[in-house]
Amino acid sequence: MLALEQKILNEGTVLEGHVLKVGSFLNQQLDVDFLVEMGKEIDRIYKNDGFTKLLTVESSGIAVAVAAGTVMHLPVVFAKKNKTSNVSGEIYSAMVHSYTHNTDYKIVVSKDYLSKDDKIVIIDDFLANGKALEGLIDIVNQAGATLVGATCAIEKGFQGGGDRLREQGIRVESLAIIDEMSPEGITFRK
Ligand code: G4P
Repeated sequence: MLALEQKILNEGTVLEGHVLKVGSFLNQQLDVDFLVEMGKEIDRIYKNDGFTKLLTVESSGIAVAVAAGTVMHLPVVFAKKNKTSNVSGEIYSAMVHSYTHNTDYKIVVSKDYLSKDDKIVIIDDFLANGKALEGLIDIVNQAGATLVGATCAIEKGFQGGGDRLREQGIRVESLAIIDEMSPEGITFRK
């Protein structure tokens, strides 16, 4: 998505440790009009073919997923991290390892909101090593639901998570893929 690449170039900052700061539109302040444009792009990619729900994980994935859900007229389910006190009844859960934060956390979805009849697109903000996506895919599989594909707004291609999932036959369509980045510049995959 060229407009997203341009927005990253205009507003993003590359920090130490290969971290891209995009707090002005995605991770802290939300550019809602631009989020809707991302939602339209996700709709164009998937051409709704009987999907039932979008699935994401809190917190920053929710904004992108809600934008796509608004355009696609689909409900959004988000996995909660660690806390289960307000998730009652039976749950699907998966452990996720974060390389960025060097921690492990549990993601949880109530069985009330995913079933074998669901046809799911997974949405998230960043795709780095792919562990969050793997956890969400695990939950889709536990539910016996059908996974159509996964879309992240910004994929850090140099971390390899997206390509590893593609090699497993999973449809991963990111809106912008960064192949290289440093404080001197950002190169997008063509
Ligand atoms: P992975 O899921 O692809 O394996 O990624 P990883 O664990 O390494 O990333 C952990 C968190 O850091 C995720 O958010 C991810 O969205 C975010 N992240 C990874 N790389 C970048 C980056 O370059 N820039 C920014 N801004 N975020 C990055 P999280 O901790 O789960 O937080 P949140 O969703 O609650 O914000």
